[in-house]
Amino acid sequence: MCVHSPTPRDGLRRPSIPRLPARSRFRRFEQELDSWWLEQVLSTLVAALNMHDGGTADHSMRVASLATDLAKHVGYAYDSAEFEQIRRGALLHDIGKLGIEASILRKPGPLTNKEWEVIETHPGLGYTILKKIAPLVGTAEMVYASHERWDGGGYPRGLEARQIPPAARLFMLADAWDAMTSDRPYRDALTFEAALQEIHDNDGSQFDPAVVAALDRLIAERGGRWDALDHRPAA
Ligand SMILES: [Fe+2]
Repeated sequence: MCVHSPTPRDGLRRPSIPRLPARSRFRRFEQELDSWWLEQVLSTLVAALNMHDGGTADHSMRVASLATDLAKHVGYAYDSAEFEQIRRGALLHDIGKLGIEASILRKPGPLTNKEWEVIETHPGLGYTILKKIAPLVGTAEMVYASHERWDGGGYPRGLEARQIPPAARLFMLADAWDAMTSDRPYRDALTFEAALQEIHDNDGSQFDPAVVAALDRLIAERGGRWDALDHRPAA
């Protein structure tokens, strides 16, 4: 279980001024206030996306949960600023879908090529939304690259390998895992074994080998249990 909750921290109490010497007291207060406001913005964005495309909030939370677990296994410390950016980026990775017609997002069947072209604009739209929020500029870059493949065959820019920000490589795997293990209107969810096989079949093409190795370590750590890797929120 991830130590940090990947969910937006709804209902957090507004920080109060701590009892410290004046200068450090105000500095800490400012930092806590910034992060409090940012969490409110995050919750609002995820809620707006969920209204537009029902179920996306749960998907985003599962992706954030797996992405942060993978982040730990590639070496990020839980209390680092990078780890926090990864959590935020994973939660917001689909935010650009706010700019995609609901009729395409909710289509109960496979998409046409033209509709896929529209869907593929969502990382760029997400970047456009997030770059306007100063503390989320770094997150905007991660989101922009979240559908780039290790072999350069992704979108929108065709970045490859180490050109892709490390956080975005985590999102690619976590997002694919959640898509494969979730039911779709036109197909059932894959089993744990089939999804894992699919990840290994695309090791070094779609996915960064270091991230696939992190997934293997995560599974081994949890005794290879499907329920241990099922990042769905408890019912
Ligand atoms: Fe996604």
